[in-house]
Amino acid sequence: MKPLLEIKNITMKFGSLVANEDVSFTIHENEIVSLIGPNGAGKTTLFNCITGFYKPFSGNVVYRGKDITGMTSYEICSLGITRTFQIVKTLNEMTVEENVMTGAFLHTRSRKRAARTTGDILELTGLISKKNILGANLTIADRKRVEIARALATNPRILMLDECMAGLNQTEIKDVMSLCLRLKERGLSLLIVEHIMEAIMPISDNIVVLNAGKKITEGIPQDVVNNEEVIKAYLGDRYHAKSKKS
Ligand SMILES: Nc1ncnc2c1ncn2[C@@H]1O[C@H](COP(=O)(O)OP(=O)(O)O)[C@@H](O)[C@H]1O
Ligand SMILES: [Mg+2]
Repeated sequence: MKPLLEIKNITMKFGSLVANEDVSFTIHENEIVSLIGPNGAGKTTLFNCITGFYKPFSGNVVYRGKDITGMTSYEICSLGITRTFQIVKTLNEMTVEENVMTGAFLHTRSRKRAARTTGDILELTGLISKKNILGANLTIADRKRVEIARALATNPRILMLDECMAGLNQTEIKDVMSLCLRLKERGLSLLIVEHIMEAIMPISDNIVVLNAGKKITEGIPQDVVNNEEVIKAYLGDRYHAKSKKS
């Protein structure tokens, strides 16, 4: 099967700092791919290169066979690739419903149609009972949920989540995990940046590991967590110690 998204030899530099170096991997339809690695490994930079916030120094991003490198973030989002931000960008003076509706307006100017899409997404993400709460009054978990809901309202084929589980409690993490699986069931593909291995292991089809800008390996979760280089660069004993205990 042809990949939905191909990341081809992406290199991104900030002056002399090489934040991504020759990174390649693919995402297929209906697949959950996770991107892991220590802080500063280049995960967010890669998100920015894929979604048009940065133009990579070299390499290509190919979506459904079309080279989208250098297109604007707006164009890329319109084509079906939407991301959330590591630092949440809730619109504080707007209600939950209005926050999500801003995403829905990407594909329609009709308020009625945008409201219908928004209603569906609020149901799907468990936010319907909070639709009238102002952004400013939300908990961190709900802000993150709104961020995902707003991204979903743009009707993406690929949803990219940048550390959307950080700072959440166990129950909230479980909620995001089950939402990810529900989205996959609906036919979406996901690219997830996350540090919580216990959360991404059970839901990922493939895990890509970055360290100091370079991809060091990729594979199914069980292989990746047992990879010596990954343990040395990132996991250390923390994941293994936990998995041995349980
Ligand atoms: N806009 C920028 N300007 C300069 N350096 C940056 C910028 N964005 C990221 N970097 C640097 O690039 C490297 C990778 O950062 P980042 O992609 O944020 O890593 P991660 O998301 O994996 O923690 C870091 O050394 C960071 O300081
Ligand atoms: Mg980051």
